[in-house]
Amino acid sequence: MTAYKHWKLDTDRDHLAWLSFDKEGASTNTLSAEAIDEFDRVLDELQAEQPRALIIRSAKESGFIAGADVGEFTKIKDADDAMQIVRRGWNAFNKLEALPFPTLALVNGFCMGGGVELALACRYRVAVDEPGTRFALPEVMLGILPAWGGVKRLPRLVGPTAALDMLLTGRAADARRAKRIGLVDASVPPRIQENAARMMALEAPRPRKAPLAQRIMNGSFMRPLVAAMARRQVASRASPDRYPAPYAILALWERYDGDPFAPPHEDPASVAGLVEGDTAKNLIRIFFLQERMKALGKDGGFKAGGVHVIGAGVMGGDIAAWCAMRGLTVTLQDQSAERLAPAMKRAAELFKRRLRDRSRVRDALDRLIPDVAGDGARRADVIIEAIFENLQAKRELFAKLEAAARPDAILASNTSSLKLADIGARFSRPSRLVGIHFFNPVPQLQLVEIVSGANTDPEIAKRAAAFVRRIDKLPLPVKDSPGFLVNRVLGPYIDQALRMADEGVRPETLDAAAVAFGMPMGPIELADTVGLDICMAVGKELAGESAEPPKKLAELVAAGHLGRKTGRGFYVWQKGKARKGRAGGVTPELTEKIIAPYLKEAQAAVAEGIVADADLADAGLIFGTGFAPFRGGPLHYLATLRPEIHT
Ligand code: NAI
Repeated sequence: MTAYKHWKLDTDRDHLAWLSFDKEGASTNTLSAEAIDEFDRVLDELQAEQPRALIIRSAKESGFIAGADVGEFTKIKDADDAMQIVRRGWNAFNKLEALPFPTLALVNGFCMGGGVELALACRYRVAVDEPGTRFALPEVMLGILPAWGGVKRLPRLVGPTAALDMLLTGRAADARRAKRIGLVDASVPPRIQENAARMMALEAPRPRKAPLAQRIMNGSFMRPLVAAMARRQVASRASPDRYPAPYAILALWERYDGDPFAPPHEDPASVAGLVEGDTAKNLIRIFFLQERMKALGKDGGFKAGGVHVIGAGVMGGDIAAWCAMRGLTVTLQDQSAERLAPAMKRAAELFKRRLRDRSRVRDALDRLIPDVAGDGARRADVIIEAIFENLQAKRELFAKLEAAARPDAILASNTSSLKLADIGARFSRPSRLVGIHFFNPVPQLQLVEIVSGANTDPEIAKRAAAFVRRIDKLPLPVKDSPGFLVNRVLGPYIDQALRMADEGVRPETLDAAAVAFGMPMGPIELADTVGLDICMAVGKELAGESAEPPKKLAELVAAGHLGRKTGRGFYVWQKGKARKGRAGGVTPELTEKIIAPYLKEAQAAVAEGIVADADLADAGLIFGTGFAPFRGGPLHYLATLRPEIHT
């Protein structure tokens, strides 16, 4: 049998071929051009060998296949380059599908993009039911489309309803959901995976079909109707000029049955057209920025096991719950059991919502331990303080913590506005103190700022970043300066909008102008969401105690109308949604005026070295504030500014 660089082919005594993907020199399997070319040759060899069946699996410690090698996308120079990449995978997977013997993908861990497309070209799929198993087609999030057969095969296999949901949102399905929707034939526990795969491949049952109703919806008669409905849904989230990929996916399915070579270049379904556009370039740029932040958490080899959180309020409670959900053992301390109770309740709700499976929910609850006495501080690897924003109280607490904690434990504060150097002033070893600044709501916001004060040991900051990765968040190293990066940039932007509201511009109009630029929510709605009391405090922190706060803001805070959390702020809030009236006219000038302070402050923060460079600032502001992703980040936007994309 031929020896391959990235693939290992074995045939067992039943004449069953096992093909293991083990991308050379990488911890993760990605389908690079070389790996696919080799796969294609393996298929030729198998075609000649004619085994009884073929099972494809991963030889890596974690994950099946992470998808295409996105690095190769950045080298695409023109439409021909793009179509060459498409052709390689398309042809190989068609060859796989055409093999005359049973083929099966045994999927453990993540299976993304091209990995799903490879699995779809097999006759059967078996998923290993473990927490890491995830099927997703995230191409849409990169502004491109699954062009190696995904748009064609997925709707056939699971029907358009579930397929379009995955294709148009990039949403992942775990092993059980994959089984439910018919994406896999079986979802099995890890210990029987090989046997289950072997039995299915050898017995070769009749391949499953989508339910009749779904098959009808996939028929050429119904497709235009289904596509029109899906298009309406997409339109409520994204416009075709800014985010063309979901529209391209729909068009490719509806009119070309997923064949990427069928549409002409100028057609909205054209892959080449997508790849040449700014949106795909910017979204791919964001993908790499995200990878860069992930890599920041890889240094140092620090592995956190236990976490102790003090303060079970809005932030501490959710931080503790999140860590427990991500597999860490967490002790949560507050002044009394009554204060801990709401946090424990919120945690249980979060686990139910996110983990669904009862035994996983129970395990997560077991890992979250109420600890009024604060005993956990003695054992923890990471200690996070999230008590009231009061310097004296924090200093007193840390004096006790420093004495109790293990010498190698990380001592961290979640403070938004106090200077780390002040909190650590009385430490015997101030180099141990680092800021780990989460954003509210913790479960939704991926970014976490890692704040280094003048005294913070860089090694501790690295370990803090590793901890943040361990809980699946994105670490952004920042300097200890008012507002760090995210609040500093949001501050003047919200302040300007609040002052324009004082001048009589309707909040709805201000918000609409920001949304027109591409922000996920306008500055007034954001202020209401964050809490108007917090906006006041941050405003004072950034502009100084003596600065006059915006008038309407001060009035609302004085009246106890703090925004979403009290049901009323600039807007009235019902069921977590702002009730809005009609917006006035939005002009390019208005949008420009609203966004200008944001851009200016982002530039200033980079110039002052709050973050290492402009790219990291872009990353932080996209993941921390939702800055219009299709624009590639505020600094990238400024650097590539063209008049026609100004609004
Ligand atoms: P919160 O007022 O909701 O919760 C504070 C909790 O700390 C209360 O449950 C209180 O009983 C407890 N606490 C106070 N002193 C304590 C002590 N000595 N020992 C044990 N527990 C004690 O406050 P929130 O909003 O959660 O803020 C906490 C920290 O997080 C602050 O430093 C704040 O700046 C920061 N932060 C807040 C954000 C927000 O949006 N609320 C966002 C990011 C950071």
